[in-house]
Amino acid sequence: MTISRSITVTVNGVVHERSVEPRLLLADFLRSTLALTGTHVGCEHGVCGACTIIVNGDSVRSCLLLAVQVDGCEVETVEGLGTIHNMGAIQNAFQEHHALQCGFCTPGMLMTAKDLIAKHPLATEEDIREGLSGNLCRCTGYENIVRAVRSASVALKEKTS
Ligand code: FES
Ligand code: FES
Repeated sequence: MTISRSITVTVNGVVHERSVEPRLLLADFLRSTLALTGTHVGCEHGVCGACTIIVNGDSVRSCLLLAVQVDGCEVETVEGLGTIHNMGAIQNAFQEHHALQCGFCTPGMLMTAKDLIAKHPLATEEDIREGLSGNLCRCTGYENIVRAVRSASVALKEKTS
């Protein structure tokens, strides 16, 4: 017999109460239970970074967490960054700098970039390369991705100063 547990999670500002199996991965909870399929799942063991989201202000691998572990937490996924008609600054920079090809790594790159820019608004190119080093792009478009993150960090800094 599987015992479900009730959890309450705020995702992109919306409160969700669900009953979940204790073994349910957070990535599967987001994609299957909440239909937030923007979070991608690649390696499923913490290597590729495609599943990166933000929990309580820190970027994490959603394939390495269980849904029950985010009970009571604030979760941000790529869907929270903006919409196709109203993209956020980081998404705009990715578009402007052609920072995606197949797009599989993109949600994880965007969420890692959000965390990086929030914590290091003055990040140098080297900091950005280091910060993104845990996210793999099989299309190898790293140059443009780094350029986009640098551009987004400058744009966001100008906006807040
Ligand atoms: S799917 Fe989570 S790190 Fe690859
Ligand atoms: S754009 Fe294809 S994996 Fe990064």
